[in-house]
Amino acid sequence: MKYVQIIFSPTGGTEKVAKALTRDWPAVETVDLTDPELDGAKLALEPEDVALIAMPSFGGLAPKLALDRLGELRGNGARCVIAAVYGNRAYEDTLVQMEDAAEKCGFQVIAAVSAVAEHSIMHQYAAGRPDGADRDQLALFAGQIQEKLRSGEVKKPAIPGDRPYKKAGGSGLVPKAGDNCVGCGLCARRCPAQAIDPQSPKTTDGSKCISCMRCVCLCPQHARKVNSVMVSAAALAIKKACSVRKDNELFI
Ligand SMILES: Cc1cc2nc3c(=O)[nH]c(=O)nc-3n(C[C@H](O)[C@H](O)[C@H](O)COP(=O)(O)O)c2cc1C
Repeated sequence: MKYVQIIFSPTGGTEKVAKALTRDWPAVETVDLTDPELDGAKLALEPEDVALIAMPSFGGLAPKLALDRLGELRGNGARCVIAAVYGNRAYEDTLVQMEDAAEKCGFQVIAAVSAVAEHSIMHQYAAGRPDGADRDQLALFAGQIQEKLRSGEVKKPAIPGDRPYKKAGGSGLVPKAGDNCVGCGLCARRCPAQAIDPQSPKTTDGSKCISCMRCVCLCPQHARKVNSVMVSAAALAIKKACSVRKDNELFI
């Protein structure tokens, strides 16, 4: 029997939540869905295995790239917990999309979590989260999940979200390299969508970019940026929705 965390976390917030939820799992293996080299077809779980599948919410939906890579895995009846991580606005249909995708590739969903992490574009929202209070709450959730796993109960909880899912709309924010780019190519190597040309890292293919902000977050020169006027306008548009601290939730 093995424990696996299957994570898509371009800038690390989702990974923090996943780690808090799997803290007490023994010898947990990690499958990184941001890795373009990942050969999902080689990853087959056994029915007695347990998985956590964690993804961020982008525009209230799960990133298509993450769902596509998850779809290559075979769950073979393994029990799983799904976790949607969002920046304190809303996660809308992210969890139901994840539920459908997980079941389609053979997992049994036994619990779902929504959790808040710092907004990876508008860092003023949910700044510093998950914080100590979140970690305490996620530890309580982890305990309840552990109890359900031990009991052998596999009943699926009601998971919030709509079907059909809301319409996807891109953020339109494609990070650009500034003059301080030294062309090291780290962004190209780590881009989940292979949108950056490794030979010419200042060139980004806007049709491939998913605006995940990984390149902005990891550039050692802080050379990659998104249009600040667009970000300010977007921040203003969601200010009200983000003004109240949202709680993490467990559906079990
Ligand atoms: C393109 C994009 C769209 C996002 N859309 C939403 C959203 O609809 N609601 C929300 O609350 N947070 C949204 N966020 C914030 C992320 O869900 C949040 O910061 C998450 O922790 C990012 O995960 P990561 O740190 O693992 O990359 C968005 C972030 C990005 C990059």
